[in-house]
Amino acid sequence: MLVDNSANYRKDPIQRRILSAGLADGLLSAEGSRWEVQRRTLAPLFARRTVASFTDAMLRAADGLSERWQSLEAGAIVDVAAECTLLTLNVLALTIFSDGIGSDFDAFRAAMNDYFGAIGRIGVLDLIGAPDFVPRPGRKRLRQTMAYFEEVIDEIIAVRRRRLAHSPEADAPDDLLTLLLRALDPATGRPMSLAEVRANILTFLSAGHETTASALAWSVYLLSQSPPWYARVRAEADAELHGDRDGLLERLALTRAVVEEALRLYPSIAALSRSAEAADTIGEISLRKGALIVIAPYILHRHRCLWLQPDLFDPTRFLAPAKARIPRFAYLPFGAGPRTCIGSSFALQEATLVLARLVQRFDMRLAPDAKIWPLQKISLRPANGLPMQILPRSTS
Ligand code: HEM
Repeated sequence: MLVDNSANYRKDPIQRRILSAGLADGLLSAEGSRWEVQRRTLAPLFARRTVASFTDAMLRAADGLSERWQSLEAGAIVDVAAECTLLTLNVLALTIFSDGIGSDFDAFRAAMNDYFGAIGRIGVLDLIGAPDFVPRPGRKRLRQTMAYFEEVIDEIIAVRRRRLAHSPEADAPDDLLTLLLRALDPATGRPMSLAEVRANILTFLSAGHETTASALAWSVYLLSQSPPWYARVRAEADAELHGDRDGLLERLALTRAVVEEALRLYPSIAALSRSAEAADTIGEISLRKGALIVIAPYILHRHRCLWLQPDLFDPTRFLAPAKARIPRFAYLPFGAGPRTCIGSSFALQEATLVLARLVQRFDMRLAPDAKIWPLQKISLRPANGLPMQILPRSTS
């Protein structure tokens, strides 16, 4: 479904309807040849070297959060899940629009929250496949939010286009927006239309925001339950997080393994779904045209036939040589095949750097009466947030 015969499977209609608001022209929602053109045009934006160039922006966002936490009363309880959501939005803002978003960042963030609140609500009308003209609760609000986004983003694009037209190549801001505006389809040399640039900015903001925040929040939660791993990550951060940025991610191997293990136990996208364009047979199962198929990484990642002690938090699974022994399709936090996540390196780098920085600076302890439970709402989030006590790092 995802690899050998992926052409026969499309994003299913429920997912398309829910995710389509404003994203219809972007990579996540496009299908067929429109998807192919976008994927090859956008690939260089997420190449290893480009992603590595965002290291400083990611650490700057982590430092901003640290400064805010340092000004808290010692032992204050904060919702770390909400803080991570704010942080990942800041990282996207810094890496997409490095010269600022031009308008009020708080208003932009509030609109972002509204947007996720609206698209995260899967109504009964969506599930029964009611046509689009049937009014849905919250749709009007969503349309207003989208109109606001489009206005802000179009203004940013217009300003940047003028700047790129008038300044020499070397003076262009080094960010995803410049790359998007300069991206050319390698096959035809065609740039993206305004609608495509705007839809992909919204796509990166939506696809890269809550997903990465969840990965980070679950990593913090799991570390808070494992003092030995907390100490190992802290020691690694002390040794590596200063000076030389070259190869930093490779040197933060333990921290990265913690993030990968968190994505195993709590995959941000707990289930992937598709519908069959034509009848097919998968193993011994016959599928009719239009069948809805769900692959659930959450289940695969905890399957007893695929993992030893699957419910145990054990980041060593993702360290050499054990990592090479993980069966190819047992671990799918970023999907597989041609539609695999384009931002996976970006997300892993971001979560690893930020986790290292926060663990280096703070003792983060789960609030005494907190009950943590996963809830799937687009991404897999702690149902009631992640209340944690934040203390400056103890000297012991
Ligand atoms: C830990 C964080 C993330 C996780 C777990 C994640 C997960 C996924 C998954 C599972 C898919 C495939 C969906 C499917 O096949 O139905 C996907 C696709 C996608 N992701 Fe991510 N993602 C993350 C972060 C990001 C980031 C940071 C960005 C961009 C800045 C991003 C952009 C995209 C896009 C554009 C697609 C669609 C790719 C295509 O269809 O060609 N993701 N993601």
